[in-house]
Amino acid sequence: MSDIDQVLEYLQTHRAEWDDLLCQYLRIPSVSADPGHAEDVRRAARWTADLFERMGFSVELVDGEGRPVVYAESPRVEGAPTVLVYGHYDVQPAEDPSLWETPPFEPSIREGAFFARGACDDKGQILPHILAVRAWREAAGRLPLNFKFVVEGEEEVGSHRLERFIDEAAERLACDCAVISDTGMPGPDQPAVTYGLRGIAYYEIRLTGPNRDLHSGSFGGGVTNPCNALAKMLAGLLDDHGRIQIPGFYDDVLPLSEEERARIRAVPFDEKAYFRMLGVETAVGEKGYSVLERRWARPTYDVCGVWGGYQGAGAKTVIPGRAGAKLSFRLVPHQDPAKVAKGLEIRLRQLCPPGIRLEIIDLHSSPAVLTPLDSPYLKAAERALAAVFPHPPVAIREGGSIPIVARFQQRLGVDVLLIGFAQEDDNAHAPNEKFSVQTYHRAMAVSARLWEELRRGSDGTRTT
Ligand code: BES
Ligand code: ZN
Repeated sequence: MSDIDQVLEYLQTHRAEWDDLLCQYLRIPSVSADPGHAEDVRRAARWTADLFERMGFSVELVDGEGRPVVYAESPRVEGAPTVLVYGHYDVQPAEDPSLWETPPFEPSIREGAFFARGACDDKGQILPHILAVRAWREAAGRLPLNFKFVVEGEEEVGSHRLERFIDEAAERLACDCAVISDTGMPGPDQPAVTYGLRGIAYYEIRLTGPNRDLHSGSFGGGVTNPCNALAKMLAGLLDDHGRIQIPGFYDDVLPLSEEERARIRAVPFDEKAYFRMLGVETAVGEKGYSVLERRWARPTYDVCGVWGGYQGAGAKTVIPGRAGAKLSFRLVPHQDPAKVAKGLEIRLRQLCPPGIRLEIIDLHSSPAVLTPLDSPYLKAAERALAAVFPHPPVAIREGGSIPIVARFQQRLGVDVLLIGFAQEDDNAHAPNEKFSVQTYHRAMAVSARLWEELRRGSDGTRTT
């Protein structure tokens, strides 16, 4: 039997062990946004590090403010290419537990899927890469490549520590290509390679009015209400045609070429089924663009949260002293997050009425990315996907962001392969997040094959 066949068989016969490992991982509530989970975040980092140590990797926990980057290097394989594999062990907050059918951090396997926070984003997607390396080591007794794994703990809050680590350790991180599984695919049997991600610019705004909450009868009419001001300001960032009202916002937007529009049209996408799944009646959005174009290649403005005033039961007559909101802008290629920040400040100050003090906090940002479609590494990924799934992969873009990808491209100068396995209805960032058991195991087989494809480099893949 060839090495790869032995590896695939090993993966197959150890399925129960891989399922158990994912459940262990999912049981750790590594919520990066919540300081109350700081210890759990560290626990997830250590759990990840242990996996690598067991595989004979040298491991370092690169700590920042308690959300360490796990950096693991394989023993050296002379003459083989080096691949950097990136993923994240942090997860989004679970929020309202009553909306979950089973508790978010007590993984349950039902309806053919793992249900838990982090199942598809990203524990269930990074673990297959690690386990595919483990299987190579155990079943073939050798590693096909040099591996550098970077598994971070703050992807969901902006990758601050990792950005610094890449700048500090660019030489150590040198590689031939980077592989990331933290995106999606069009259907359970339809794999994809992703060649574009949107960027993001995320802000919190805080409005302060009177120095205390006031009786809305006694004081109403004579002071500016921060909630009213907030509503006006938030609405003022968008016109009636869905165009974002920030000076210079569209100046650098890369227009879609006809060639790319044709490629997007060729991606299987059932618009009716999509909106049915979402419980939404009609498509909305920027005129002149299809739903996929709007989601993948046009910028957006979304209010992710608003607060202020009375939120309890029944009525309370009050003019609150404060109000605020969280705003996210999705950016497309060539938009500069710094320019967006400047424009936003100008526009919000224009919209801010007298009697309100405005504070804008820049929480994080990262630019959009496009990756070359003719990379030999991408061809290797396509072959690996085609060998495991019933259909060959399609090339897609994604609307979400992975802040560190642009940094990998810029600082390490390498092609980044985005091969994601999440489904649109896997509920990433929402209650009842899940990941298909079958896809989890297919991802492992893809990964095992990808290592061999990259090693072979038969169609021009460079070697170090
Ligand atoms: N896995 C996602 C990125 C993603 C989402 C890719 C949807 C493709 C489709 C990742 O974990 C994520 O959620 N990223 C954040 C980044 C942000 C917090 C800086 C995002 O896109 O909101
Ligand atoms: Zn996420």
